[in-house]
Amino acid sequence: MKEKLEQIRAHAIHAIENSENLEKLNEVRMDVLGKKGELTAVLKGMKDVAAEDRPKVGQWVNETRAVIETRLEEKKAAFEAEKLRARYESEKIDVTMPAVTCQCGRLHPVTQVRNQLIDIFSAMGFEIYEGTEIETDYYNFTALNTPQDHPARDMQDTFYLSPEFLLRTQTSAGQIHVMEAKKPPIKVVSPGKVFRSDDDATHSPMFTQMEGLVVDRGITLCDLKGMLDEFVQKIFGEGTKTRLRPSYFPFTEPSVEVDVSCFQCGGTGCKLCKGTGWIEVLGAGVVNHRVLEGCNIDTSEYSGFAFGIGIERIAMLKYGINNIKLLFESDLRVLEQIDD
Ligand code: DAH
Repeated sequence: MKEKLEQIRAHAIHAIENSENLEKLNEVRMDVLGKKGELTAVLKGMKDVAAEDRPKVGQWVNETRAVIETRLEEKKAAFEAEKLRARYESEKIDVTMPAVTCQCGRLHPVTQVRNQLIDIFSAMGFEIYEGTEIETDYYNFTALNTPQDHPARDMQDTFYLSPEFLLRTQTSAGQIHVMEAKKPPIKVVSPGKVFRSDDDATHSPMFTQMEGLVVDRGITLCDLKGMLDEFVQKIFGEGTKTRLRPSYFPFTEPSVEVDVSCFQCGGTGCKLCKGTGWIEVLGAGVVNHRVLEGCNIDTSEYSGFAFGIGIERIAMLKYGINNIKLLFESDLRVLEQIDD
């Protein structure tokens, strides 16, 4: 019996050592220790062993079983350690490798400024109105107190589609649509593309404006000035001041050009402000009573102010761009530098 057990042990250990993986090891376990295993068969045969030999034989069987189990466990642990080592090896990373940089898209500078303006004005309670790029002569000019023979039409070289239809030259056209559709109080900004036959370093045939209109009881130039003071600090930085200069627009009376104190030099004079300490940023004024009356707004009760901002101009000033074409050439070397 002892011999038989030794044979089983030697055979099992040989099989354990030669098993190539966990599955094979499990097969060995079943062959020896399983229900139909060799050692189990010996145990089952215990009944045939003489009663006085049973304790001795029982002890041998247990010893054999213990040795085989230990070997099985050792081999299993070795397989698991090897598996882990292989996994670590395959997942090894070289932390000194340069990172793979990914190209990140971003919003166009004009869109960035447009969104900033929308954020600022909506925080002040303005609604957004987006008009259409094709307008009638009436909305773009006549209703804005610029009749057919008005000299101010020369200020804006217009792309006519027909005698009646044109590409809007100014988002001011939106003012009329808003006032026709809505009774005061009105507080609206209207961003959008505008078109003029104009082309040089600071002008492009297509550019973007944002019109603003406020109509309510008791609105004066002071309200415009107060709102502008807040607006310029938000877009150009705290401490930026405004200065109003008399100007002319047919749809406002009085009309003003609005300058901001130079946000680059703080007003002492630099290249950006051409040594003057001030930079012109937008046109504005008190809405001409004729415009209000044309929209059936009672001027004995209501008054308003309006302003028009050139978005490319703001972007050029903010990001130090000296030619408007750079904004439309889609040159990534330029665009990638601007992410506000
Ligand atoms: N529409 C003008 C332009 O395109 C800008 C402007 C000036 C708009 C004064 C206004 C305003 O509302 O009051 O040059």
